[in-house]
Amino acid sequence: MPLNDALDFKTMPKKNPAGRENILQVKNLVTTFDTEAGRICAVDDVSFEVKKGKILGIVGESGCGKSVTSLSIIRLLPKPAGFIESGQILFYGTDITRAEPKKMHQIRGSHISMIFQEPMTALNPVHKIGRQIGEVFKLHYSGINKDKIQEKSIKILERVGIPDSEKRMGEYPHQLSGGMRQRVMIAIALACKPDILIADEPTTALDVTIQAQILELMKDLQRETGMSIIFITHDLGVIAEMCDDVVVMYAGKVVETAPVKELFKNPRHPYTKGLLSSILRLDTPRKIKLNVIEGMVPSLYDLPVGCRFRNRCPEAQVICETQPLIKSVDEGKKHFVSCHIV
Ligand SMILES: Nc1ncnc2c1ncn2[C@@H]1O[C@H](COP(=O)(O)OP(=O)(O)OP(=O)(O)O)[C@@H](O)[C@H]1O
Ligand SMILES: [Mg+2]
Repeated sequence: MPLNDALDFKTMPKKNPAGRENILQVKNLVTTFDTEAGRICAVDDVSFEVKKGKILGIVGESGCGKSVTSLSIIRLLPKPAGFIESGQILFYGTDITRAEPKKMHQIRGSHISMIFQEPMTALNPVHKIGRQIGEVFKLHYSGINKDKIQEKSIKILERVGIPDSEKRMGEYPHQLSGGMRQRVMIAIALACKPDILIADEPTTALDVTIQAQILELMKDLQRETGMSIIFITHDLGVIAEMCDDVVVMYAGKVVETAPVKELFKNPRHPYTKGLLSSILRLDTPRKIKLNVIEGMVPSLYDLPVGCRFRNRCPEAQVICETQPLIKSVDEGKKHFVSCHIV
């Protein structure tokens, strides 16, 4: 019996309860790091929802807190420096921010999986591919025998597009190309049939053609399994291709959130507008320089008072010296922004 059916969470509601559209709700999450130079707040009052069967994109420049947000969700923050200071992460309505390590291990194993940017760091270099996939099946199907593990491993490797999968099972990670390694990571992440897959920049280390193939594969697998995906990227072009809803982060805060079409049609935050104007469009002549937002994401040790984007914002005013709150742009369209001037 799959562990998904056999789970016994005393505090965990039933899987897929009817009518529960939001699988995961992140509410006012604050994640901090204790560093030699003091405590920094990498994720500051972040809220968003992951809907059943949908792909949520989290976008923002490097250092905005995308990975820290996802590591907070699966509780794999670097210890002891990083910790969730406050807020809630409701998984099927149950707060998991204080769940015991054993329970989190079960959740990670059978409900929430994650794939990372560089599969070489996530795969074990000294174990063959077959063994690494087999481990997942062994863990999640109690009493499963060797033949069944072999059969399931071959099947899932074939599904993620690995040719000659039986032979590949006997190889080590370094014998595979980057794209193939990422496919193996996807296979491992999917082996436990997760409700949510967190994909943290899963294609940035790959070349463009392979990138497109992996994105297509992830979309297909999402449709097939009905799982939800949190897709993290710094590329709004990828967001447009993949996602249903978008969260735009800047310096640890959510600055704008909306369904993908709405965000592209009607971006409101100057940061979102800046990101959008820097996407390479197909009709852009090669030699035209793309607009990039001037300046850099501020250091968490030295954040500006008020709106964190104001030093780079072309529209900043005096009022921006106070912190804007997130407000509704259009309740009906589920569009929210954190900016004084919109
Ligand atoms: N282990 C750590 N110790 C101290 N600070 C950290 C640690 N990890 C992350 N941070 C801080 O949190 C901030 C956000 O980091 P995070 O990795 O979430 O950024 P990101 O949005 O994922 O960026 P990228 O696109 O480069 O992956 C960083 O700028 C850094 O200041
Ligand atoms: Mg990251």
